[in-house]
Amino acid sequence: MSARILLLPGDGIGPEVSAEARKLLEALARDHGLEVTLDEGLIGGAAVDAAGTPLPAETLDRAKAADAVLLGAVGGPQYESLPRERRPERGLLGIRSALGLFANLRPAVLYPQLAAASTLRPEVVAGLDILIVRELTGGLYFGTPRGIRTLENGEREGVNTLVYRESEIERIARVAFDAARRRRRRLCSVDKANVLEVSELWREVVERVHVDYPDVALTHMYVDNAAMQLVRAPKQFDVLVTTNLFGDILSDEAAMLTGSIGMLPSASLDARGRGLYEPIHGSAPDIAGQNRANPLATLLSVAMLLRYSLNREDLARRVEEAVGHVLDRGLRTADIAAPGEPVCGTSEMGDAVVSALSEAA
Ligand code: IPM
Ligand code: MG
Repeated sequence: MSARILLLPGDGIGPEVSAEARKLLEALARDHGLEVTLDEGLIGGAAVDAAGTPLPAETLDRAKAADAVLLGAVGGPQYESLPRERRPERGLLGIRSALGLFANLRPAVLYPQLAAASTLRPEVVAGLDILIVRELTGGLYFGTPRGIRTLENGEREGVNTLVYRESEIERIARVAFDAARRRRRRLCSVDKANVLEVSELWREVVERVHVDYPDVALTHMYVDNAAMQLVRAPKQFDVLVTTNLFGDILSDEAAMLTGSIGMLPSASLDARGRGLYEPIHGSAPDIAGQNRANPLATLLSVAMLLRYSLNREDLARRVEEAVGHVLDRGLRTADIAAPGEPVCGTSEMGDAVVSALSEAA
């Protein structure tokens, strides 16, 4: 049966990198036995422009009908003055929530060819392979009450609520323990239990789930220390599990260890493994439309999609190996080029990965 993939290119560099993902999927269909139907929809600012809302009902219906969704990026300076509920980011948060995509997997892997592109010394990052498991549909991002209200004395007050239920903590912990089991069997849970009651509960529930995973070594770390340890000695980590906001922050930090945020894919999964895949970089409006963006994070997101939603580990590996070949050959977009190194464009990089598919696996 043919898998249905919905492409949501979005804003900024989103359309350019999504075009490379389409090329890759079409090549896999043509030459490597992938049975797939591609559909395309609107999200973010592009949807605001065309339909007046960042997440049109039609997009959500099509996402629900699809086997997997591949998203480019959302957001741009032209939308920053819109009311909050019509901002592009609302489209992204809305689709994560509506599809129940509570488990966000963000691998930070350093390709050895790029060790020099990291701002950290090569010996600190060489061989880096971390997985951040970020809770994605709860916590401060979604807790209520929220808003800005005016007090009796006329002063305004902003409110957001950090709230997690035991069931929400338990299900993300299970995803993280399962992932650790398939890796080096070490899980570090990141919280702020020295200050926050929510974190106290988080720790307790993670400990309880640990009983079912005695083969995984569990540690806990405060988020401020984790931020420091990530730049001090990142290779101490295997899998990290944390809340929505902490995960947002730590995953950008971890991304930079690998040289460029332009390299990192992500998967956001529901309870049955259906998912939305996206590069973790944003819409980068400053370089949009110039054929300068690095498409590799998106192509590696396609690999995650093949692995988790389509059960095609063989093709996922093929894509990842093709990316390795292209880096071996010295192809570099601007974000991963060492000073003075020649630079290639978005579409050249995408074409090179497609041609390397046949050498891979
Ligand atoms: C991310 C992004 C989003 C988030 C924004 C665009 C809403 O930073 O996916 O990490 O905060 O989750
Ligand atoms: Mg972020």
